[in-house]
Amino acid sequence: MGIIETERLILRPFTHDDAPRVLDIQSRLDVIRWLSDPPFIPMPDLDEARAWIDNWNTGDIGPLNCGYAIEVRDTGVLAGTAMIVQVPYPINDERQVGWHLHPDSSGHGYATEAAVAVIDQAFVAGLDEIWCGMYPDNEASARVARRLGLVERGLVPDPWYLGYSRYFTATRDEWAKR
Ligand SMILES: CC(C)(COP(=O)(O)OP(=O)(O)OC[C@H]1O[C@@H](n2cnc3c(N)ncnc32)[C@H](O)[C@@H]1OP(=O)(O)O)[C@@H](O)C(=O)NCCC(=O)NCCS
Repeated sequence: MGIIETERLILRPFTHDDAPRVLDIQSRLDVIRWLSDPPFIPMPDLDEARAWIDNWNTGDIGPLNCGYAIEVRDTGVLAGTAMIVQVPYPINDERQVGWHLHPDSSGHGYATEAAVAVIDQAFVAGLDEIWCGMYPDNEASARVARRLGLVERGLVPDPWYLGYSRYFTATRDEWAKR
């Protein structure tokens, strides 16, 4: 997995040096409550943070399966994570794009800028369609998806969130023309 550079960001693999910041992000209920179904279990310690990092760096990693550390170029701050993944219970067997930020890094457009880069890379690698799903009341995430130009498909049953998910997609053509 290489590094992707955007106007304001460096998307790079996580390293163990990121563990304290990863712990700070993944132990926050206001972040993790949007990422899966309950119970929401805050990351407990640095060992877990290192294991989480190792998990992103293990296996068949590439443009269609990746978790990038979003680093702010000017400050070196680790803002959050941008990913392309195939979730275990897909409502669509194409890849999902995902994003989450430390709250101190929200409100600058970093999630959107990072998502454009990982989606671009996935389509170049041959992906036909990208999707993302989120809790129906996750307004901040829906705004990212809309800002990206993904097409809103409404609410669909989603086992990942044990209920319904607000669902966005874009084919390669839709992404190119957005
Ligand atoms: C979802 C989440 C990543 C959105 O964060 P965000 O900071 O709102 O998204 P972005 O980084 O794209 O920033 C966009 C915001 O920055 C503002 N902004 C400021 N400068 C900007 C710039 N130069 N370019 C673009 N946007 C800019 C935008 O107006 C926008 O604010 P608005 O939504 O109030 O209009 C964040 O809320 C989060 O991590 N939530 C918890 C985890 C989560 O829900 N993940 C998604 C699961 S589906």
